Amino acid sequence: MSARLRTLQKATSALLQTSRPALQPRPPRRHLSAKPFSSATPRSAHNSASSALAVPRIVQGESAARTLTVELPNGQQTSFHYLWLRDHCREPRSYHPATKQRLVDTFLIPADLEPTAANCSSEGLTVTWPEREGSGDSYDSFFPWSFLMEHSYAPALRKGLEKADRKVLWTSEISENLPTVTYEEVMESEKGVYEWVKRIGTYGFSLVSGIPPTPEATEELIRRIAFIRETHYGGFWDFTADLKHGDLAYSDVLLQGHTDTTYFTDPCGLQLFHLLSPDSSHQGGHNLLIDGFRAASIFKKTHPTLYELFSTLPVPSHASGTGSESSPSGVHMAPLVPKPVFNHDENGELVQVRWNGDDRGVVGGPAWEGKMDEWFEGVRAWEAILRSKEATLWSKMEMGTAVIFDNHRVLHGRSSFTGERRLCGAYINHDDFRSRLKGLEKQFGEKSAEKERLLSKYGLKSSSIGGAREEYA
Ligand SMILES: [Fe+2]
Repeated sequence: MSARLRTLQKATSALLQTSRPALQPRPPRRHLSAKPFSSATPRSAHNSASSALAVPRIVQGESAARTLTVELPNGQQTSFHYLWLRDHCREPRSYHPATKQRLVDTFLIPADLEPTAANCSSEGLTVTWPEREGSGDSYDSFFPWSFLMEHSYAPALRKGLEKADRKVLWTSEISENLPTVTYEEVMESEKGVYEWVKRIGTYGFSLVSGIPPTPEATEELIRRIAFIRETHYGGFWDFTADLKHGDLAYSDVLLQGHTDTTYFTDPCGLQLFHLLSPDSSHQGGHNLLIDGFRAASIFKKTHPTLYELFSTLPVPSHASGTGSESSPSGVHMAPLVPKPVFNHDENGELVQVRWNGDDRGVVGGPAWEGKMDEWFEGVRAWEAILRSKEATLWSKMEMGTAVIFDNHRVLHGRSSFTGERRLCGAYINHDDFRSRLKGLEKQFGEKSAEKERLLSKYGLKSSSIGGAREEYA
């Protein structure tokens, strides 16, 4: 525990003790077997003081359940297991402040470990652990309220709270105001990159205008976000329609809205295209974008049963084209585990659409028994939404303007073309994109907006985010 934190805790304790009975007096130092909390603070004492100070209180240290329960200023209670508290201690001796890695060896935490004391302040919860045998050294863990609330689980207080990365779902009307940044601003500053990735996060795509029409400038541009993901198509592509990679993308035929690389366990995250040939070189080849999250939200409303099917049924996918220069033994890609069309996070929020009719493998097997009729009905209903006028954003590609999109959300396609159409571009991993976005949000964005909403929902003030301690919250 730092000297700064000790000073702060003493000052906070003094404040609380002069204004009302102590929330939880610290008992004498005891060994591991000692019972840490004998009784709850009387409610009457708590109510008058905490409402004025917006300080949560400890309701109980429940030895039987081995949990510590705190009551937040709005009356909401939430509990933390003793071992969870020790395991998630953010103090420098338990959690490396620079690498953000756990230094606690969870295996060595005694199964019967119990805190000897716990104190609430307006900023957070301090838990005191018993002396280690013979060390004469007790140990405090401080947790900012924002940290506890964000990671609470009994119950999870964050559930249902609006996320910071609010996505804007769009129709083809977005053509009147396309999310765009300039090459110059992206290349000049980190703030420019932030403006770019923020648009990709919000809309699922962004244009970049004013790019010198060369592969070199385009590659430099995309590397402003992260390194390129190399695949069996190569790293940075510069190609025309020649089928040398054994894929219809390298042809001149119509491509319906789809997501790429459904045959990877982790499909590519971002995809950038930049046209390098003039208008006169080809006819057609317009670019198609569809907001897959918006389409999915409509599908869910109009066909809830089919949405459920598309969210659970594993759909095989593969890449097996021959003739790839980079894979002389052929390409035999398939994900380790076939995934559904719609994939959700642990809170049930849609996070990934995987849809590629051309690359779909042979459907069948035990999971498909009795589902075939529904599946084909679902394909028709889903495609009808994807191909509707309001869903499809068609645009003519231009030299000097690149389009980049989130392949986990936005489907893309292309009209057929004649002539020579030279494109360049690359993939970026989704993890690397989100890491870059998060880092730039911390630097330039309203990083605490989500935490502020969480704290305020339960009656806490923004100062409870933890100030300087946020870096390890
Ligand atoms: Fe594609």
